Amino acid sequence: MNRTLFSKQINKEMIDGLKNDTQAFLAFLQNQNDGTIVYVLEKLGHLENDYSREPLLNLLNNRNKNIRALSLKNLAKMVDISLLSVFIKYAGNDESAEVRREAVSAIGRLRNEKAIPALINFLIDSDPKVVMQAIRGLLVFASRLDIKQKLKKLLNHPNELIKEVINKEVNGFSYKSNSAQRHDEFPYFLKNTVVQGDVQEALKYVPDESVHLTFTSPPYYNARDYSIYQSYDEYLNFLEKVFKEVHRVTKEGRFFILNTSPIIIPRISRAHASKRYPIPYDIHPFLVKMGWEFIDDIVWVKPEACVKNRNAGFLQHRKPLGYKPNAVTEMLMVYRKKTDKLLDWNMHQYNWDKVKRSKVLGKYETMNVWRIDPAFDKVHSAVFPIEICNRVIRFYSFVGDLIFDPFAGSGTLGRAAANLDRYFFLTEKEQKYINRIQESLCKDNNLFNSKNNQSIFLDIKKFTSLSKEKI
Ligand SMILES: C[S@@+](CC[C@H](N)C(=O)[O-])C[C@H]1O[C@@H](n2cnc3c(N)ncnc32)[C@H](O)[C@@H]1O
Repeated sequence: MNRTLFSKQINKEMIDGLKNDTQAFLAFLQNQNDGTIVYVLEKLGHLENDYSREPLLNLLNNRNKNIRALSLKNLAKMVDISLLSVFIKYAGNDESAEVRREAVSAIGRLRNEKAIPALINFLIDSDPKVVMQAIRGLLVFASRLDIKQKLKKLLNHPNELIKEVINKEVNGFSYKSNSAQRHDEFPYFLKNTVVQGDVQEALKYVPDESVHLTFTSPPYYNARDYSIYQSYDEYLNFLEKVFKEVHRVTKEGRFFILNTSPIIIPRISRAHASKRYPIPYDIHPFLVKMGWEFIDDIVWVKPEACVKNRNAGFLQHRKPLGYKPNAVTEMLMVYRKKTDKLLDWNMHQYNWDKVKRSKVLGKYETMNVWRIDPAFDKVHSAVFPIEICNRVIRFYSFVGDLIFDPFAGSGTLGRAAANLDRYFFLTEKEQKYINRIQESLCKDNNLFNSKNNQSIFLDIKKFTSLSKEKI
C-alpha cells in the first residue's frame, strides 16, 4: 500500500484512538503488516510521559529493523530514565546499525546525568554515527570539565565529521578573518572594474576577502583556439594557483561555482585514439584540499542538436566498445569557502532591506539539472548563456555584492551582475575579448554607465596603482 492509501485508511483520529487505548493498540499491531506498523509508528506524534510503554516495548522484538528503530524513537519521546537499561541493551547488542544509532540517540535524549557513563562508553564505538550520537548526548553536559576532557580525546578521531564537531566545541570557531571590512562591503576600487591581463597578476593586488561570489568557466585546456598549454599537468597547475588565489580573495563562507566539462582532444590520424580529459574530476581534489567545501553539483544539459555528433561510426557498425554518447552536459560544481559558521551567519550580515530585495521570488529550478540552450557570440567561441549567469547570481549572492569572473571572456557574468543590481570585477587576458566586453557594456549603456555604476577598464599597470591608492 502506498502512503496516500495509508493516510486514507489510517487517519489522525484512528492513531489518537490507538494511542489512548493500550489494549486496542496491542490488538491492532497483531494483525498488521510491517508497512502499516511503520506508518503508524511514524505518525504517533507527541507522547506524554504517562503513555503505556507496552506496545512499543513489544515491538522492540520485531524482526524488522525499521520497526525496532521507530519504536526506540517513540520511547525516547517519553524521556523516562527507567528505560535507560533498555536503550543501553539495544545500543550495545542490536544487529542493525540503524537501531543502535537510534538507541544511543534515545540515551542522549534522556538528558540525565545517570546516562553519562553509557554515553562515554559509546565514544569508542566503531560506528562513527553511534559516536556522533553519543557526542550529541554529552554536549548537553559540556560545561562539566570531566566531560570536556573526554570529548577532547576525540580531537584525533579518524572520522572527519567527528573531528570537526569536537574541534568547534573545544576550540571554538577556527576561521580567522584577515579583513577589517564588513561582510556586505568590498574594496571600492574593484567596483565594476574590468582588468586586461593575466588573472594571476591582477589577483596579487586584490585584498583578502574582497569577493562575494565567483562564477567562471576557465579555458578548456587546449580544446579551443585560446590558451595553449604545454601539458595537461601545466594546465591543472595553472588552475590550482588561480583558484587558490580566488579562495584567498573570497569572503568567509561564500561561494565559488566552477563550470567545466570533460574535453576531447581529437586523434591525429586514424592510427591513433582521441584523448578524453576528465577536467572536473581532476580539479575537484585540489579545490577541497585548499579549503573549498564541496556543496553541490549542477548539471547543465544542452539540446543534442547543439553538440558535436560522435555517433556516426557506432550508428553504422553497432559493435560493443565503440559506443560514444553525445556529450550534452557540462558541470557546475558548487563550493563554499570553508568555515565553521553556518549559512545563517552569512545571511545575518545583510540588513533586512537587502535580504528582501535579494529574495528569489516566483518560479525557479528545483532540480540540479538545468536545461539551458547554449549561447553563441560573434567574437568569443565559448560564452555563458546569460540565463545560467542569472540563475547563479540570484541563487548565490545578495543585491550589492561583488561578483567575480577571473576568465571573463566576453563578460557575460558582468552584464548579468549589473542587470541584477550586483557589481562585477572581471579579468580577461585577451584584448579582443576586452573590446567585446566594452562593446556589449555600451549596448547596455543605461545599466552600466549610470552615474554611480560606471565601468572601468584598466590594464594591469593602472590596476596596480589604483589598488594602492584606493583600498
Ligand atoms: C571559456 S572562456 C570564458 C567565457 C566567458 N564565460 C563568457 O561568457 O564569455 C575562458 C577565457 O579565459 C581567458 N583566459 C585564459 N587564460 C587567462 C589568464 N591567464 N588570465 C585571464 N584570462 C584568461 C581566455 O582568453 C578566455 O576568454
